[in-house]
Amino acid sequence: MKEVDMKNFWAWGLVLAMSSTLADEVTAGRAKADVACALCHGLLGVASLPSAPNLAGQPAIYVSEQLKNYRSGKRANEVMSVIAKPLTDTEIMQLAAWYSAIKVTVEMP
Ligand code: HEC
Repeated sequence: MKEVDMKNFWAWGLVLAMSSTLADEVTAGRAKADVACALCHGLLGVASLPSAPNLAGQPAIYVSEQLKNYRSGKRANEVMSVIAKPLTDTEIMQLAAWYSAIKVTVEMP
């Protein structure tokens, strides 16, 4: 292989490694969400409980910030504060990856 080919080889290897990591996070987040969140936020992040917000398609940074705020007490809600309390940073990252990976489309009313 020429040196340039080798560089491309390593660059693509890195891209593949990174994308499989994201896919793993989404899969892990979905598994957790199916059990712990879907009852209120819906299986695909469209809320099934009228008082719960939709999470599908929300940016990962937004979802993770809110979960960390509930966990720390910066944002308080009688339901979410309890649910977020035991979540680890890794679980929050995976849940955020899952909800942000869901594609949403909107229509004019
Ligand atoms: C028992 C119902 C219930 C369950 C289960 C539940 N939630 Fe919630 N969630 C709510 C409600 C109600 C709110 C709105 C709270 C508020 O007003 O702050 C909320 C708010 C949120 C928000 C803030 C959204 C926004 O738009 O600011 C996030 C993020 C969230 N939930 C994530 C999760 C995750 C992740 C799980 C699973 C680990 C989960 N929730 C489980 C009911 C639930």
